Amino acid sequence: MKILLLGKNGQIGWELQRSLAPLGEVIALDRHSVDLCGDLTNLPGLARTVQTVRPDVIVNAAAHTAVDRAESEPELARTVNALAPGVLAQEASKLGAWLVHYSTDYVFDGSGSRPWMECDTPAPLSVYGMTKLEGEQLIAEHCQRYLILRTSWVYAARGGNFAKTMLRLAQERERLTVIDDQWGAPTGAELLADVTAHAIRQALQRPQDAGLYHLAASGETTWNGYAKHVIAQAARAQTAIKIVANDVAAVPTSAFPTPARRPHNSRLDCTRLQTTFGLKLPPWQQGVDRMLAEIL
Ligand SMILES: NC(=O)c1ccc[n+]([C@@H]2O[C@H](COP(=O)([O-])OP(=O)(O)OC[C@H]3O[C@@H](n4cnc5c(N)ncnc54)[C@H](OP(=O)(O)O)[C@@H]3O)[C@@H](O)[C@H]2O)c1
Repeated sequence: MKILLLGKNGQIGWELQRSLAPLGEVIALDRHSVDLCGDLTNLPGLARTVQTVRPDVIVNAAAHTAVDRAESEPELARTVNALAPGVLAQEASKLGAWLVHYSTDYVFDGSGSRPWMECDTPAPLSVYGMTKLEGEQLIAEHCQRYLILRTSWVYAARGGNFAKTMLRLAQERERLTVIDDQWGAPTGAELLADVTAHAIRQALQRPQDAGLYHLAASGETTWNGYAKHVIAQAARAQTAIKIVANDVAAVPTSAFPTPARRPHNSRLDCTRLQTTFGLKLPPWQQGVDRMLAEIL
C-alpha cells in the first residue's frame, strides 16, 4: 500500500510518520519538498503530486493553524484549509483512493455545555473555523472514501506546547493567570496518529465506515484546569518551580483579548468513532502525563 502524507513536520504529521510506517510505503512531504510538491498553496502542483504518486491513501496533516493570524490572511487560510483539501478530494476520487483529513472543534460556536456530536450544526466564530468547515464540505462533495477526524486542543512532545509554556512560566513567576471558561480535552498527537492508522486499516476493509468523526481524549477540563494539572505533576516530579497548582488564578477569556474568537464549549462527543472502530479513548491526563514524563 502507498500512503501520501502531507504536512509531515506538523504535530500530527510527525507522529503519523511513525504510526503509518507499518501500513506500507509512506511518501511524506512538507511545503519545502523538492521533487514532489507538498505546498498546499500550489493547487495544480498538489494535484500533480497525487497523479504522480498514485497513492492508495492520502493523509492530510497540513493546515493553516495560526488561528489569530488567519483573521488577517483569510485568503491564504482558505486556500490551505479549504481549497487544497478540495483538490485532494477530487484527485483521490479519480484514483479511488482514501482521503484522511483533520478538522477542528472550532467549526462550532461553543454555545451550551453538551459535547458536540457530528450531526450538530456548525457555526464557526473565526476565519480558521470557517475555512476548516469549508474544507470538510469540499471533501464530502468531491469524494466518498474519506475520513474527517475533528479534534481539539492538540499537543505534542516535539516543539512548543501549552504545558511547556506553563512549566517555563512556573519557573519564572510566583503567580499565573489562565482562563477558565473554555472547556475541552487536550489531545495528544500520538493518540491521533495511532487512531488514524487503526481507522485506515479498518476503513480499507469496510468502505461503509467512511465519514466524519469526532476524536479527542476523554474527559474535560479548562485551560486553567490543564495548567493546574501540569503544575501539580511538575511539583510531584520535584521540578524547580515557584508556584503550586492553587496559585494558578482563574480569569475569563475576555481578560486576554485575541483577534480570533474561540468557542467556550469545545467538548466533542466521540461515541461514533469509538463504536465504529471498536476503540476506547483514554482520559486526557494519561497522554499529558506521558508527555510530561518525557520532558520533566
Ligand atoms: N493544533 C490544534 O490544537 C488543533 C486542534 C484541532 C484540529 N487541528 C487540526 O489538526 C491538523 C494538524 O494540526 P497540527 O496541530 O499538527 O498543526 P501544526 O503543528 O501547526 O502543523 C501544521 C502543518 O501544516 C504545515 N503547513 C502550513 N501551511 C502549509 C502549506 N501551505 N503547505 C504545506 N504545509 C503547510 C505546517 O508547516 P510549517 O511548519 O512549514 O508552517 C505544519 O507542518 C490540522 O488540520 C488542524 O486544523 C489542530
